[in-house]
Amino acid sequence: MSEAVSRPNNLDAFWMPYTANRQFKQTPRMFVAAKDMYYTTDDGRQVLDGTAGLWCCNAGHARPKIVEAVQKQVAELDYAPAFQLGHPKVFELATALAELAPPTLNHVFFTNSGSESVETALKMALGYHRIKGEGSRTRLIGRERGYHGSNFGGISVGGIVSNRKMFGTLLAGVDHLPHTHDIERNAFSRGLPLHGAELADELERIVALHDASTIAAVIVEPMAGSTGVLMPPVGYLKRLRTICDKHGILLIFDEVITGFGRLGGAFSSDVFGVIPDIIITAKGLTSGVIPMGAVFVRDDIHDAFMHGPEHLIEFFHGYTYSGNPIACAAALGALETYKEEGLFERTTELADYWEDALHSLKDLPHVIDIRNYGLIGAIELEPIAGKPTQRAFNAFLKAFDKNLLIRTTSDIIALSPPLIITKQQIDELFDGLKSVLRSLD
Ligand SMILES: Cc1ncc(COP(=O)(O)O)c(C=O)c1O
Repeated sequence: MSEAVSRPNNLDAFWMPYTANRQFKQTPRMFVAAKDMYYTTDDGRQVLDGTAGLWCCNAGHARPKIVEAVQKQVAELDYAPAFQLGHPKVFELATALAELAPPTLNHVFFTNSGSESVETALKMALGYHRIKGEGSRTRLIGRERGYHGSNFGGISVGGIVSNRKMFGTLLAGVDHLPHTHDIERNAFSRGLPLHGAELADELERIVALHDASTIAAVIVEPMAGSTGVLMPPVGYLKRLRTICDKHGILLIFDEVITGFGRLGGAFSSDVFGVIPDIIITAKGLTSGVIPMGAVFVRDDIHDAFMHGPEHLIEFFHGYTYSGNPIACAAALGALETYKEEGLFERTTELADYWEDALHSLKDLPHVIDIRNYGLIGAIELEPIAGKPTQRAFNAFLKAFDKNLLIRTTSDIIALSPPLIITKQQIDELFDGLKSVLRSLD
């Protein structure tokens, strides 16, 4: 290992996001390089990436097409103003993305993260109703245990208590559907759980309470990732779609995790067959290489904004780095890699092997549920009495010592490897996890 990558002397100044800062700084875990399926630590170990970074490096690490595209772009056009000016790659990318998206969602708005995509989608929904003369539709409906990033709109419609409780009253006029997690009826489901479609009917109760004329949109993750990988019960999304249509409510799918191959298609609609009005993406869009998000919008929602004098801005929203040239290059490189290597199809091909390997952990100590779809999976552990989250966190630390990167959220282990994982690496991941789980108190 070279001196240049040795551990910094001072870890104090950096306040780390969503991290147990004091624990980390006592026993730091540092990555200094990455290639394909493996990270390299600062003590020279190769760590198998079981989480695609943070659910984002879907094509794996340091992939040539993406690296070359970024290197070339930064030397050619590093930045172009995002407002009132353009550059070719942003249009090229939007067109390529529209081709991947469901046929009615042909317009793309660029952001820099999942959180910004969420705020953008919520604003589009509110603006759309107002333009259509239904300005009373201001209410937003999220779901318990939902994760929609860290900004105020996102935490308001989100439903993860620790992300909300510190931050005051949040957005006004938000309500929540119940979450769909039901271990009693659905434990150890393979693929979509059978029970729970009726939970979508709670939307009718919410409509009856507030009146449809006050509701702008429902936002859900088609598969709730950050809360611990909750698959939609069979029929659930379809029912949500039907109820939204009945009441003129927009349906927004937050596909920041499910987009770009995780479930075996470009978007969840490819596998679950339900098409929302707005799709939120980020992460896998650039395979995690450069921060970027994209919001896909139904054509008539976009078109509704395109009225009035032509010299006027139609949607007062955007970011300095919306459609940044280097991010566009990274995204085009990622799309090319996904296509050339058939990575979305690869997810589907590997899904059965992944499922069997994951469910082989069923009888290990403390395991109370296992769930999966595509190349995503979760192992839920019985919490240690009085110490919620401790058991899974211990599993994370032990796995790291055994050269495996896993992710934990409350007492759930979440797995989402790059889509280039091989069967041999799937075995490596689960053999390692077996010994981790056996060693837990
Ligand atoms: C469904 C969902 N929405 C939004 C976000 C926020 O994305 P970002 O961290 O890029 O802001 C995430 C991140 O995990 C996510 O899973």
